[in-house]
Amino acid sequence: MSNKIKLGFVGGGNDSLIGVLHKVAAVMFDRYHLVGGVFSSNKEVNVKTADDLGLDQSRIYNDFEEMIDAESKVDSSEKIEAVCILTPNFLHFPMAKKFLENGFHVICEKPLSISLKQAQELKSIKDSKNLVFAVTHTYTGYPMVRQMTKMISEGIIGDIQRVDSTYFQGWINDIIHDKDKRNSTWRLNPEVSGISSCLADIGTHAFNMLELVCGMKVKKILADLNNLYEDNPLDIDVSILVRMENGCKGTIRSTQIATGLENNLNISVYGSKGSLSWEQENPNYLYYYSNDKPLQVLKPGHPYNSKISLDGTKLPAGHPEGIFDAMGNIYRGVARAIRGEKNEKGEFPTIEEGVRGMDFIEKAVKSNENGNIWLELE
Ligand SMILES: NC(=O)c1ccc[n+]([C@@H]2O[C@H](COP(=O)([O-])OP(=O)(O)OC[C@H]3O[C@@H](n4cnc5c(N)ncnc54)[C@H](O)[C@@H]3O)[C@@H](O)[C@H]2O)c1
Repeated sequence: MSNKIKLGFVGGGNDSLIGVLHKVAAVMFDRYHLVGGVFSSNKEVNVKTADDLGLDQSRIYNDFEEMIDAESKVDSSEKIEAVCILTPNFLHFPMAKKFLENGFHVICEKPLSISLKQAQELKSIKDSKNLVFAVTHTYTGYPMVRQMTKMISEGIIGDIQRVDSTYFQGWINDIIHDKDKRNSTWRLNPEVSGISSCLADIGTHAFNMLELVCGMKVKKILADLNNLYEDNPLDIDVSILVRMENGCKGTIRSTQIATGLENNLNISVYGSKGSLSWEQENPNYLYYYSNDKPLQVLKPGHPYNSKISLDGTKLPAGHPEGIFDAMGNIYRGVARAIRGEKNEKGEFPTIEEGVRGMDFIEKAVKSNENGNIWLELE
């Protein structure tokens, strides 16, 4: 009998942005079998997505509650074991809560929820069950991010003395200057997106990446948010000063109005002996700077990389891998955890990271509302 994990989707239909990434990543290492779910809030799209995937229509449901009821009655050898929650932000909490309560492992898109309180509740439910919970900070799955993390943890660049994490996009430009459009996109609707647009959508990736590669928490932040128009309730442009646990200073900046920019996530960490810099749009290059040697460019698949970096590289050096591979690596880490196999810290982002992300979002909004004051994270 196959040991593949039986997987269900909620969201991620043909009408979605991110569904295709999860569909490809989930099957990349032959660890999951996609069984069914609720792919879309639109009935026709739901059915059509399942048809395109060749799924059994009896495992396609109208809503997640019907899915839980029906799957709970399926024989355990066939029952969906893990679900991916790929819906707009406000649905993550009620869905994840109910799936956890009914014994499903959860792979949830970021942000984990729309409030810190919800995120903490999810964590306490998860902790009370023997279940795996991942939050898909996709970019953490890249081999050279894993290599950067390892090199910093081994002290190769010395003591961290300055950090900068930026995520610049420009897509909202086409929407924000048009009153009708800015009032109709879900990412600018607080009921759907939560208390933030830019922070929740991409600032949280920049924050997560910073804590991951530094192996250290952000201690406090001072945020300056920009909504651009008075009738736009949510931030679309964010500048944040940070103090790390070791006292070092730096910035997290994210924006959706950097005209012409696409997915420019960049993380740079400056140490006392050297510096490392990585950018998402050129993910196969890790730049290693020092004062006494020429610039070194490290690439995936070479034996000089760490075990966890090499584990995330499928082909010999020189075969560029991308975002699908990064998410595939995360899915494989989750599969190992679900099956109780050995997996290294950093193979997938955990619920603790999701909770940290929500604390970051809430404190940044509060800092801005209170006149750009310093606030400590929990
Ligand atoms: N990890 C990343 O890099 C990344 C990138 C993009 C989006 N995201 C996150 O993924 C989530 C989805 O974003 P998107 O851009 O794909 O959104 P989208 O609006 O393009 O797609 C949302 C999907 O959810 C479905 N849906 C809505 N309500 C539903 C319900 N009640 N039941 C079942 N399906 C439902 C929609 O039909 C659609 O298929 C968001 O939380 C977003 O922050 C993450």
